[in-house]
Order: sequence, then structure tokens, then C-alpha cells
Amino acid sequence: MLDGGRIIGGLAILCLVVAGPLWLGSARGVKTEALPKPVAGDRCIEPREEMRKNHPTLLASWRERVVRFGDRVHEKPDGHAVRISLTETCLGCHGKATEFCDKCHAQAAVTLSCWQCHAKERK
Ligand code: HEC
Ligand code: HEC
Ligand code: HEC
Repeated sequence: MLDGGRIIGGLAILCLVVAGPLWLGSARGVKTEALPKPVAGDRCIEPREEMRKNHPTLLASWRERVVRFGDRVHEKPDGHAVRISLTETCLGCHGKATEFCDKCHAQAAVTLSCWQCHAKERK
């Protein structure tokens, strides 16, 4: 006879092995060893740890500022001004979205609708 307890135990372990990285990814931030170095610039809009946590909020506020207020200039905490643009500014430094944003999001099981309208690469 099959040992039901062992099968269920085995399945539970399998689930942990498969899903564990996803949970850890969403809880602690995705591992980024595999992410390409920015192609330009040495400082993000905010410090790295802030960006990891807050980039969705930052992007939403950028969108709001452009679409509602026509404000296209963002002053960084260090006083430098950058143009508010997902493709020109973020991807100007980070390169192709397929190799940066998407890599991380795939691990975190996030899918963005943004690319239906926004270019995934700065021309
Ligand atoms: C249906 C099309 C559409 C989708 C989907 C969309 N946007 Fe936009 N977005 C626009 C348009 C149009 C503008 C205004 C462009 C302008 O005036 O330069 C804009 C402006 C922006 C801006 C400021 C200007 C710029 O070029 O970056 C940001 C940032 C932005 N959107 C982020 C996002 C993010 C993040 C997502 C996904 C969560 C998203 N958008 C999804 C159409 C879209
Ligand atoms: C002037 C160049 C520059 C611009 C513009 C820029 N970044 Fe960055 N970004 C960086 C650098 C440099 C790092 C740190 C990478 C490192 O430490 O290896 C970084 C880190 C990040 C990280 C964390 C990645 C990691 O390895 O932990 C995210 C997420 C991110 N940026 C998103 C964005 C978004 C979204 C925008 C636009 C709102 C943006 N960046 C604009 C240069 C830039
Ligand atoms: C270090 C890994 C990492 C990188 C790199 C990264 N993201 Fe994210 N992103 C995440 C994670 C994790 C989430 C989901 C959890 C959260 O909201 O913080 C997320 C969520 C988002 C969301 C909100 C999605 C939603 O449905 O609410 C947007 C918008 C977004 N990222 C845009 C970008 C863009 C644009 C880039 C590239 C310029 C980028 N991200 C690069 C990890 C990353």
C-alpha cells in the first residue's frame, strides 16, 4: 500500500523547494547578482536599497507629475536634476528593460502592463 503521509510530506517539501525562492523574492527583495550593471551613470535616483523597495511608488509619482501637472523635472536628493522619463532616464542608465526590469520581475512573478505603451529600450 502507498504511504499517504509520506507522499503528502514529499509534496509539501517539493512545494517549498519550488515556491520558496518566490516567497523569499517577494519578502526580501530579489537576488540581483545576475542583473547587468547600469550602462551609464553611477548613482540611481535614490540610494539602491530605497530603489529596491520604492521604485513602484517613485514611478507612480513620476507618472502623476507628468500626466497631471506637466512637471518633467525631478530633483534628486543630491540636488541633481533629471528628466522625468521611464524610458529616457531609467533605461538610459539601466539599458534594456528585458535585461534589467524583466529579469527581476520574473523572479518575483510580477508582470508589468507599462510596456504596452512605454518603449523597453532607449533609442
Ligand atoms: C495605455 C498606455 C500606458 C500604459 C499602460 C502606461 N503608461 Fe505611462 N504614460 C502613458 C502616456 C501617454 C504618458 C504621457 C507621456 C508624456 O506626456 O510624455 C505616460 C507617462 C508616464 C510617465 C512619465 C513620462 C515618461 O515618459 O516616463 C511615467 C514615469 C509612466 N508613464 C510610468 C508608467 C508605468 C510605471 C506604467 C506601468 C505601471 C505605465 N506608465 C503604464 C501611457 C501609458
Ligand atoms: C544615472 C543613472 C541611473 C538612473 C537615471 C537610474 N538608475 Fe537605477 N540604478 C543606478 C545604479 C548605479 C544603481 C546601483 C546598482 C549597483 O549598486 O550595482 C541602480 C539601482 C537600481 C535598482 C536596484 C537594483 C539592484 O541591483 O539592487 C533599481 C530597482 C533601479 N535602479 C531602478 C531604477 C528606476 C525605476 C529608475 C528610473 C525611475 C532608475 N533606476 C534610474 C543608476 C541609475
Ligand atoms: C531588484 C529587483 C527589481 C528590479 C531591478 C526592478 N524591479 Fe520593479 N519590482 C520588483 C519587485 C519585487 C516588485 C513587486 C513588489 C513591490 O511592489 O515592491 C516590483 C514591482 C514593480 C512595479 C509595480 C507593479 C505592480 O503591478 O504594482 C513597477 C511599476 C515596477 N516594478 C517597475 C520597474 C521598472 C520600470 C524597472 C526597470 C527600470 C524595475 N521595476 C526594476 C523588483 C524589481
